[in-house]
Amino acid sequence: MRENKQDSEKRENFTSQLGFILVTVSSAVGLGNIWRFSYITGVNGGGAFLLIYMLCVLFVAMPIMIAEFSIGRKGKLSPVGSFKKLAPDKRYWIIPGILSILSPLIIMIYYPVVSGWALGYVFESVFNWGTITSDPSTAFSAFAAAPKSILFTAAALIMTAGVLIGGVTKGIEKSSKILMPILFLLLLILVLRSLTLPGSFEGVKFLFVPDFAKLTLRGVLDALGHSFYSLSLGMGIIITYASYMKKETDLPKATASIITLDTAVALLSGLAIFPAVFALGINPAEGAGLAFVTLPGAFAQIPAGQIFSVTFFLLLFIAALTSMISLMQIPLAFLEEEYKMKKKTALMLITAFLIIAGIPSALSFGPLSDMLIFGNTYFDAADKLVNIILLPITGLLCTLFVIFHLGIKNSKQIFMEGAKNQNSILGKIYPFSVKYIAPIAIVLIMLNGFGLFNLIFN
Ligand code: PHE
Repeated sequence: MRENKQDSEKRENFTSQLGFILVTVSSAVGLGNIWRFSYITGVNGGGAFLLIYMLCVLFVAMPIMIAEFSIGRKGKLSPVGSFKKLAPDKRYWIIPGILSILSPLIIMIYYPVVSGWALGYVFESVFNWGTITSDPSTAFSAFAAAPKSILFTAAALIMTAGVLIGGVTKGIEKSSKILMPILFLLLLILVLRSLTLPGSFEGVKFLFVPDFAKLTLRGVLDALGHSFYSLSLGMGIIITYASYMKKETDLPKATASIITLDTAVALLSGLAIFPAVFALGINPAEGAGLAFVTLPGAFAQIPAGQIFSVTFFLLLFIAALTSMISLMQIPLAFLEEEYKMKKKTALMLITAFLIIAGIPSALSFGPLSDMLIFGNTYFDAADKLVNIILLPITGLLCTLFVIFHLGIKNSKQIFMEGAKNQNSILGKIYPFSVKYIAPIAIVLIMLNGFGLFNLIFN
C-alpha cells in the first residue's frame, strides 16, 4: 500500500485540462472513426444507424467512460494498481485490471497492421498511383499479402515507441497537441473536396436522413459495439489517463468535449467519404475495403485525386498512430510501476514482442491466410477475441465494480469533483444509465458477438 502511495505521488501529470482532453481524444480518434465507422455506416444503411449510434454513445458508452474515469481518478495508478488499491481485501477485483492490460496487448497485434497499411498507402499513392487505382481490389490484396506489409507494421510500432520515450507530458501530450489539429485540418480539406463534387448531396442525405426501413437489429447491436470501440472503453486507457489527471480537472466538461470531438471526427469522416462515394456512383455498402479499395478508385476519378489520396491515408495513419500511443502506454505503465523497469528497457521489450507477435498477423493476408484459429485467421482471431469477448467483459466488470464496490453515489462524487457546474446533465443521467442501461446493453453486445442473433435473425 505504502509503495503505491509513493508511486502516485511522483507520477507525471498532464500539464493542463486541455492536455488531458486532447490526449484522451487522440486515443479515441483512430481507425475506428474513419475506416471502421464509415464502412459499418455504409453497410447498415446510413442515417438511421447514425442516430442509433449517437444514442448508444450517450446512454451506454458515456456511463462506462464515467465509471472508468472515477476508478482511475480515485485509484491514481495503472488499472491493476488502481483496482488493488480500491479493493485491497477483495482480490478478485484485480481481474478487470489484468484484462485491461491484456486487451491493449492483443489489439496491438493487429491494429499496427492496419496502421501499417495506411502508412504504406501514403507511399503507394505517391509511387504506385497507377497500380492502386487501375485495379484497386487486386492491388490492395497484393499489397497486404506482400512481406513489405511487415516492414510497415514494424515502422508503425517503432514510431509509437519513439513518441512514448518522451513520457506522458513531453511525449504523449505534446504529440497530441501537434497531431490532433493537423488531423482536423486534413479532414476538413477532404470534406470540402468531397462536398464540392457534383452529385455529392445524395451522400449527405444518406448520412443524415434516417430511413428506418434499412435498420436491422444487427445494425443496432453493431452501433452499440462500435460506440464502445470508438471511445476506447474497457481497455484501461481511460483509467490510466484519469490517473494522470490533475485534481482540478473539470471531468464533466472534459467528458462532454471528448465525446463531442470523437463523434465529430466520425461525422466528418462520413462527410469526407459518402458524398464522394455517391457522386462517383460507388456502392456505400462495400464493407471493410471501403477505405483501402473503394477510395483510391474514387480519388482516381477526380482532379488532383492523387494529392487527396495522400492526404487521406496520412490522416488515417495519424489517427492510428495517436491511438497506438495510448495502447502501448498501458503495458508500459504496468511494467514501469509493477516491475520498476526503466522506460527504455520496457519500451524495447514491448516493441520487440509486438513486432514478433504482429508478423503472423500481417501475413494473415498472404502466406498465412490458411493458418486458422477456430476458423479465423490469426488477424481476425485477435480482433474478435478483443472486440467480442475482452472489451465487453472488462466494461461490464467496471460497471459492476462501481455498482457493488465503489458505490454509484461515490463514483458520481469523484466524477463531479472540480466541476464548475454541479448540475451537469452528465452527472444526472449517470446513476441510472450505469446501473440499468449499460450492463444490459453490454450483455446484448456479447450475445451478438457470439452469433446468437445470427441464428435468430438470419
Ligand atoms: N478508439 C480507437 C479507434 O476508434 C480504437 C482504440 C481502441 C484505440 C482501444 C485505443 C484503444 O480507432
